[in-house]
Amino acid sequence: MLSAMSEPRPPRIAIFDSGIGGLTVAAAIHATLPGANLRYLGDTARLPYGSKSAETVSRYALQASRALLGDDGADALVVACNTASSCALPALEAEFDLPVLGVIGPGARRAVASVAPGSLVGVIGTERTIASGAYGHAIAAIAPNLAVSACATPLLVALAEEGFFAGPLVDAALDAYLDPWLGGEPPAKLGALVLGCTHFPVLATAIAAWLSRRGMPNVALVDSAQAIAEELAMRFPAARTGRGAVELLATDGLDRFRRVGSRFFPLDNARLQLVDL
Ligand code: DGL
Repeated sequence: MLSAMSEPRPPRIAIFDSGIGGLTVAAAIHATLPGANLRYLGDTARLPYGSKSAETVSRYALQASRALLGDDGADALVVACNTASSCALPALEAEFDLPVLGVIGPGARRAVASVAPGSLVGVIGTERTIASGAYGHAIAAIAPNLAVSACATPLLVALAEEGFFAGPLVDAALDAYLDPWLGGEPPAKLGALVLGCTHFPVLATAIAAWLSRRGMPNVALVDSAQAIAEELAMRFPAARTGRGAVELLATDGLDRFRRVGSRFFPLDNARLQLVDL
């Protein structure tokens, strides 16, 4: 006799970030895999991670991921934070028996796919991400013929959190960071710019306009949030449709999390709760 077929259960995807910006990654995953159940933890009590040492970021990432996964675990742990992805993946992989996916690999693969051989790939991110050289190593491992140049742009994080996604403040910050980095002449070989920080997808339009004004309209902007969402969709194709649940945890400041987070992800119906690490 044939037994009744049970519906496959939706994949449970745990998403960890230093705070609120990782909601851009959650938003990309939710849009691409609406059938997945998402559980997100933002370590708002201890952000920013981007100015801290690799050892501290790894310790924080382990503590936060333990709280996020709890006893129930997940089908995958996504490290949405570029900073944590750049230095904490080995510690997380050693501790947890599940796929641990950082954003650097997907971002690097997408950057390589979007440029011609011999191009220059630019990377912007936090101080820790840039100091780690993680994007450069990941790109060199798959395309040694590409040159990579990176620039720390930490002020863009604060601007995005304040809701400045475009306008004179964003332009002034881009002038201050990118002009000295790129030099007087726009580098002809710059083929792509990796948005190597959770907050930067919301600044993409302003960054593209800035590059156009500097004579670089064809530079591809690489959104690592979208890149990891698409790689997850290959792992969990059944979740491309459906309606999964979204649960949000933060380690401090739920009011601010809801207010600022709503700029990155519609939080109206999401359950939000405080956790102590
Ligand atoms: N989430 C961090 C990242 O993507 C940015 C914020 C922070 O510095 O903690 O690198």
